[in-house]
Amino acid sequence: MQAVPIQFEPFNALSDKAAQSRIEAARAKLGKRAVLLCHHYQRADVYAHADITGDSLKLSRLAAQSDAEFIVFCGVHFMAEVADILSRPEQIAILPDLAAGCSMADMASRAKVERCWRELATVLDPDASVTPVTYINSAADLKAFCGEHGGIVCTSSNATKILEWSFARREKVLFFPDQHLGRWSGHKMGIPLEQMVVWNPDLEMGGLTAEQIRNARIILWHGFCSVHQMFQPSQIAKFRAKYPDGKVIAHPECSFEVCAQSDAIGSTETIIRVVKESPAGTRWLVGTELNLVDRLANEVKHEGKIVQFMADTVCMCSTMQRIDPQHLAWTLENLVAGNVVNQIKVPAHEAQLAKIALERMLDAS
Ligand code: 13P
Ligand code: SF4
Repeated sequence: MQAVPIQFEPFNALSDKAAQSRIEAARAKLGKRAVLLCHHYQRADVYAHADITGDSLKLSRLAAQSDAEFIVFCGVHFMAEVADILSRPEQIAILPDLAAGCSMADMASRAKVERCWRELATVLDPDASVTPVTYINSAADLKAFCGEHGGIVCTSSNATKILEWSFARREKVLFFPDQHLGRWSGHKMGIPLEQMVVWNPDLEMGGLTAEQIRNARIILWHGFCSVHQMFQPSQIAKFRAKYPDGKVIAHPECSFEVCAQSDAIGSTETIIRVVKESPAGTRWLVGTELNLVDRLANEVKHEGKIVQFMADTVCMCSTMQRIDPQHLAWTLENLVAGNVVNQIKVPAHEAQLAKIALERMLDAS
């Protein structure tokens, strides 16, 4: 390995076009040593280089199956952590820009969840009666918390199944960090809304009374995605008034009201599949990130399908956007030169516990 990595600074000045050709040249040199995984929200100029694209569940499964020495994750931090945890010890997971985090994942921390667990223990015995369920959009130490406390991970495509798994073991669920995914999945299982309470981590006892906690079946963390909270039921109403035959599909990170008024709900992979499988000429209103929606609109327009974005304003996952061609070229050229930059390495003990919770999910879904 070369001692001094190539610095990023000069790459900042590269034009997008120049960065593209340097990515291609570096990839040709690396061959099968590097695999490029890309989430569906990734910008087009990075997505174009993907070996594998997918939603969080598909990418975590495929990261575990890859033979490549380097797993270059064009997504956000928690996704690269999952790739590191599920891959073999000698494989190296890389996030081209370490600033590509997930603002929702940051809404729950290990310290706050532990405090919640302690406070719940003043009302009930959480280790006997509460399954902690973390959305995959969370830091590895929260997945480890779930591994340690009989809990599990879920993604947007398996959350209802994971809730069933959880209720088969304990009578309540603590669901973090996304309240909307937890509420919608609980609703799909037939749990009344009044039996799902919101835990505000900034308030003592989450802002709840002992009675509210005792009566709850799901305790939802007060977290949300800033992109998906931009979608509103009024946008659906406007679309339906104008296009009565149109169809609406949304991601389960949207609010309960948006989900309830949509024709279909699904993960990013499901949204793409449902729109692609719909009859020619269908008009869709889609409630998820703009890069995905724009790409999908282009891919299906030749069949006469029209795909519209749900919000009136631009809403993109600004953190995922940080993975740009410049950072990707820099990462790959370093690998060619024998340097690993931006490796994501979860500490061994944490990784071992987080893997328990992830494997429970993979077995259950
Ligand atoms: P998917 O699991 O549907 O890819 O969603 C991940 C995500 O972060 C959506 O905001
Ligand atoms: Fe996180 Fe929202 Fe971005 Fe998904 S869209 S990665 S939940 S910030």
